[in-house]
Amino acid sequence: MSETVCHCMDVDRETIVNAIKEQKLTTVEEVQDATTAGTGCGGCVSVIEEILAENS
Ligand code: FES
Repeated sequence: MSETVCHCMDVDRETIVNAIKEQKLTTVEEVQDATTAGTGCGGCVSVIEEILAENS
C-alpha cells in the first residue's frame, strides 16, 4: 500500500496511478468517478492534479 492521497475515502497513490494508466484518465472528475478519491472534503484535489500531471 503506497502513501494515502485521499484520507476521506482512504485511497492511496498507487490506486490513483493505476486507474489513470489503465483507464487513460485525464481529469480530476474522471479520477473521482473511477476511484472516489477527491469526492469528500476536496482537500486532496490538488494532489490528484499533480498525479495526473505526472502520469499523463
Ligand atoms: S482528502 Fe480526499 S476528499 Fe478529503
